[in-house]
Amino acid sequence: MKKTVICPGSFDPVTRGHLDIINRAARMFDCVIVGVLVNSAKNPSFSIEERIDFLREATKELDNVKVVSFDGLLAEYCRQNNVDAVVRGLRAVSDFEYEFQMALTNKKLNPQLETIFLSADADAMYLSSSMVREVASMGGDISNFVPECIHDKIVRGLRK
Ligand code: COA
Repeated sequence: MKKTVICPGSFDPVTRGHLDIINRAARMFDCVIVGVLVNSAKNPSFSIEERIDFLREATKELDNVKVVSFDGLLAEYCRQNNVDAVVRGLRAVSDFEYEFQMALTNKKLNPQLETIFLSADADAMYLSSSMVREVASMGGDISNFVPECIHDKIVRGLRK
């Protein structure tokens, strides 16, 4: 049976670390949905449309990946769309508590839904979207942190 997973996140903006997780999920599963979602604790710099555009550009060579956005609960979307599992990257021990809390909450809301953690690439252990935003907005070089094909758009967006 075909396996569908979702890589959810706020992706504000997508980094090379996120892309590494999406690439690896695309090799392991039949269909990967990248969900650009609302994290109510965050105040994003890029609109949902901009974040979707960045992700579509960065994943355009991956045939089994599609990028979507939706309001509401991740667990409910997964139930309605027959998603088998949530895939999240774990960077360090500090991520664990938050990730574990989300995984258990999603499981309570949708008992069929599993969460799979992939260890982040060693080069992405320190990466985060807020670090990328801060470096770029102060004129620093983010070329090692974001996919090359969307680098200029991200820089323009953060310097305006
Ligand atoms: N490489 C680089 N950075 C990574 C990373 C990796 N492999 N994995 C995570 N990060 C960073 C992100 O850049 C981000 O950095 P930031 O905090 O500076 O923005 C941070 O780690 C985590 O963000 P992200 O992966 O984008 O997820 P999130 O925590 O913002 O997303 C949602 C959480 C959107 C998945 C969650 O809020 C959600 O499911 N929302 C929908 C509503 C819902 O169902 N709520 C109940 C949830 S239990």
